[in-house]
Parts: sequence; C-alpha cells; structure tokens
Amino acid sequence: MNLQLRKANLEDAEILAKIGWQSFDEAFSDHPENHPDDMKIYMDEAFSVETISDDLRDEKTLYLIAEADGEAAGYVKMKFDVRETCVSGEKTLELCRLYALDKFIGKGIGKSLMLEFFKIAEETKRDTVWLGVWEYNYRAQEFYRKFGFEKCGEHVFQLGSDPQTDWVLQKKI
Ligand SMILES: CC(C)(COP(=O)(O)OP(=O)(O)OC[C@H]1O[C@@H](n2cnc3c(N)ncnc32)[C@H](O)[C@@H]1OP(=O)(O)O)[C@@H](O)C(=O)NCCC(=O)NCCS
Repeated sequence: MNLQLRKANLEDAEILAKIGWQSFDEAFSDHPENHPDDMKIYMDEAFSVETISDDLRDEKTLYLIAEADGEAAGYVKMKFDVRETCVSGEKTLELCRLYALDKFIGKGIGKSLMLEFFKIAEETKRDTVWLGVWEYNYRAQEFYRKFGFEKCGEHVFQLGSDPQTDWVLQKKI
C-alpha cells in the first residue's frame, strides 16, 4: 500500500465530509450507548460540507488527509492554541479528530497521521498536545497510551441530546 499524507485545502471539504461521516458512523453507530437520533443530529452538523469548509478557512485549524493508493483512507484534524483547563501547557495543539476508515484500520494509517501530528507540534514549537477520547472507546485509548498520552481530566462531549464523557489526555512535547 502506497500511503501519502497531505495538508487539506478548501477543495477537500467534500471528501473530508464524506470520510468524516463514514468513519464516525463505522466507529460508533453500532455501540449500544449511542442512540441513532443523537448520532444523526451530531453527524449532520459535524460532517456537513459547510462545517468542514468553515474549519478549512480557520487559520487555527489544520487537516491532514491520508491517501492509500490514491484513495482517501483517513484524516487528522488539529487546532492550535485551545485547551481544556486540565491541560498544563501554554502553547498547545489539540488533536481534534483522528480517524481511519474501517477497511484501513490496523494498517498503519493512524500511526502515520499521529507521527505527522507530532512533527507539526514540534515544528510549531508546541509544549503540549492533547485530545478528548470517549470513555468507552477502549481501542483508541490503548492506541493513545502507546503514543505517550496520559489522562489529566474529563469533559462533556455533546452527542445530539446525550452529554457523553470524554477523557482528556495530554502529552508533553
Ligand atoms: C484509533 C485509530 C485512528 C488507530 O489507527 P490505525 O490505523 O488503526 O492504527 P495503526 O495501524 O497505525 O497502529 C499503530 C500502532 O498502534 C497499535 N495499535 C493500534 N490499535 C491498537 C489497539 N487497539 N491496542 C493496542 N495497540 C494498537 C498497532 O499495533 C501499531 O503498533 P506498532 O506500530 O507497534 O505496530 C483507528 O483505530 C480508528 O480510526 N479507529 C476508529 C475511530 C476512532 O476511534 N478514532 C479516535 C477517536 S478519539
């Protein structure tokens, strides 16, 4: 598999909306804690072309797309200079989303995106990177632990009408 990472631009809004929607659906729709109505409310807003286009116009937000043999297979979204109160750094970079499509999971896409995320954090002289991960997302928690993230607190992730609990994890750079 030939894997390439590239920075997204405004022309990628549609493909990011498509793989954003699909990968979130694949990851969470079957989970018994998630009600289909809440999933739909959240996804319709979060993965609309308009929402992604707004992100792509925001100078504090950056997306990288992973392409496997030319096909969009995963992405990472990051945001500069925002943080939860438990995050101890000043110059922060949030890993807002990290997703591979189901058929590509376990093929190194998450790792490649994470290593590039760390590289950008170093290049932009961040002191701390952080993220939120659902309390029931054990696979992702284990993945992040492997990359050195540690829990510093919790926050609410609003899925439609359902206030869910995310763990907040951070890592010093
Ligand atoms: C989390 C996710 C991005 C990881 O990406 P991935 O492409 O599947 O992971 P990779 O194949 O790059 O694996 C990287 C390393 O982590 C390890 N790893 C991956 N998943 C793991 C798990 N559940 N437990 C332990 N190790 C794991 C791999 O073995 C690999 O280790 P190695 O480099 O020593 O071989 C991916 O599973 C995903 O998209 N999941 C669904 C969406 C999601 O939950 N996103 C996070 C939301 S917070």
